[in-house]
Amino acid sequence: MLDRIKAAISRRSGLRPTETDAYRLVNGAGDGLDGLVIDDFAGRWLISSKEGEDFPQLAPELGYRALYAKTLSRDERSSPTHLGGEKVAARFPVQEQRLFYWIDFQSGYSQGLFLDQRLNRQKLRELCPGRTVLNTFAYTCSFGVAAVSAGARAVNLDLSRNYLEWGQENYRLNGLEPEKSDFIYGDVFDWLGRFAKRGRRFDTVILDPPTFSRSRTSGVFRAEKDYGALLECALRVIEPDGIVLCCLNAHHVSANEFRYMLKDSLPPAVDLRQMPMPADFPGSDYLKSFWAHL
Ligand SMILES: C[S@@+](CC[C@H](N)C(=O)[O-])C[C@H]1O[C@@H](n2cnc3c(N)ncnc32)[C@H](O)[C@@H]1O
Repeated sequence: MLDRIKAAISRRSGLRPTETDAYRLVNGAGDGLDGLVIDDFAGRWLISSKEGEDFPQLAPELGYRALYAKTLSRDERSSPTHLGGEKVAARFPVQEQRLFYWIDFQSGYSQGLFLDQRLNRQKLRELCPGRTVLNTFAYTCSFGVAAVSAGARAVNLDLSRNYLEWGQENYRLNGLEPEKSDFIYGDVFDWLGRFAKRGRRFDTVILDPPTFSRSRTSGVFRAEKDYGALLECALRVIEPDGIVLCCLNAHHVSANEFRYMLKDSLPPAVDLRQMPMPADFPGSDYLKSFWAHL
């Protein structure tokens, strides 16, 4: 197993974008290591492993300063535990293509940045200068940071005040003024309705919902079933020549099925361009991303 881990790590050396220290080092079956994932957050490595599997013993000589682990489990959603190297007691910044994000190993199951969205953040930076961006399901506002750093105006919307505060900290970390963006605490369906009623329009809307969510205002959302309804609400707040990023995180829905799901809700002439997953996620296609150009 150690040889395969070393081989996966060495394959990454040519793939890592410049000025990026947050990267996937081992991607399960795609690296011949089914069930094992290792992410590098600026030298703090996080091993994720299937329930019931032992974590591999890794020596610091492999290149980490801290080694943590968590179990990939439906029920257990706890913070990573310390396995070796330094203890990470406080949040720390990572860099991705000249932008910085706070990572927290004490914050529970998610550490603050979804590495699999790197290419979409990069694409947004190319597409959005001078545009308005509505970042729904904003989490720690990494899409908002990417948009504003590229010269866009952004509205970040999420059902968690903590994540929105984390998002504001991410802005400050990059020298961006959170006061110049909106951080709206609330339900996406509710706010898309409010924006539509007020005639508020955006040039770009980011849709990257969780697979399942429950809100007091709009009830239960199941991405596979309700994506069309979500997209239709988003289309009511988009400028006529706008762009919608549609992401779906689902293993058992194929990219084609998702494409047809989107086509059902989009006007006929819309140009749908698929974004692949980053090269450090070989063999994975669970994240389906389409940029819909109206
Ligand atoms: C998968 S994360 C989104 C990741 C984010 N797009 C990114 O790339 O960093 C899901 C987020 O959606 C938020 N959320 C879940 N249901 C919601 C709802 N009904 N309205 C607003 N936000 C919601 C959660 O609080 C969480 O921050």
